[in-house]
Amino acid sequence: MNTVENIKDLRAQVKSWRMQGLTIAFVPTMGNLHDGHLALVTAAHEHADKVIASIFVNPMQFGANEDIDSYPRTLAQDKASLEKVNTDLLFTPTPETIYPKGVGENSFVEVPNISALYCGASRPGHFRGVATVVCKLFNLVQPDFACFGSKDYQQLQVIKTMVEDLSMPVEIIPVEIIREESGLAMSSRNGYLTPEEHAIAPALYQTLQWLNAELRNNQQPKDFAALITQASEKVDAAGLKTDYINLCHAKTLAPATPSDKDIVILAAAYLGKARLIDNMSVTL
Ligand code: PAJ
Repeated sequence: MNTVENIKDLRAQVKSWRMQGLTIAFVPTMGNLHDGHLALVTAAHEHADKVIASIFVNPMQFGANEDIDSYPRTLAQDKASLEKVNTDLLFTPTPETIYPKGVGENSFVEVPNISALYCGASRPGHFRGVATVVCKLFNLVQPDFACFGSKDYQQLQVIKTMVEDLSMPVEIIPVEIIREESGLAMSSRNGYLTPEEHAIAPALYQTLQWLNAELRNNQQPKDFAALITQASEKVDAAGLKTDYINLCHAKTLAPATPSDKDIVILAAAYLGKARLIDNMSVTL
């Protein structure tokens, strides 16, 4: 696997593959790779001839009080993992390459409405940072396909909306959530958990399973507000602190109504130094 750090080398490789008529799938990441990230690379291989991954801890999507400085950086290990799943090219730009004028001076992409909800409300500016960097990376890599994990469900919807609204010539491939045996969704931020916290973290997933079962039982009518309150009490009782739990329309992410058929349960909770997110799709 070749690794390139600058735009010129990236474009040269992309051009050469294009001249050979090869298709490209792209997997953007922030590194500290686990099996969830590697599943994206495996999915990418199913769609295109060549797979390009990127590792870039994007300063624009971190808030002032967030963990950009402590975010785990494990490049040597990540390269070995990407080699194992036959990644063809790794792009590791510096912040200066992506934001030569500085983050605040850069043009940006804002996906309205959906970016302001849930994680966007807890992390103002986060989805502007995500949309902007993904747009820029798409322009650099010019992929036919790009793979994103359903674990970051709201991020996936923000990117799908951006691609649709701006007619970007890339097909977004969603990939299932990869979980630890306990059910805890794999995440680079799980590394912040102490062993004791790691043991209670699966309560978030267990609560999603409980909510899913409640939504699917035959009892009618359903009181969504009461279910949400009970779910967040369960999460808090396990020792986490609920940020939000919501029942949402699967595409717009607007609050779900009992007549909706495709619902997603979105959840975020604090545990020690980590903020965990998870979700579950429910078709009624
Ligand atoms: P990062 O958190 O590194 O995640 C990169 C990709 O891996 C995302 O598409 C994410 O949804 C996916 N992913 C993470 N954990 C997963 C899991 N357990 N199962 C399946 N997929 C999983 O998300 C980002 O980086 C950034 O916001 C980025 C899109 C790279 C823009 O900076």
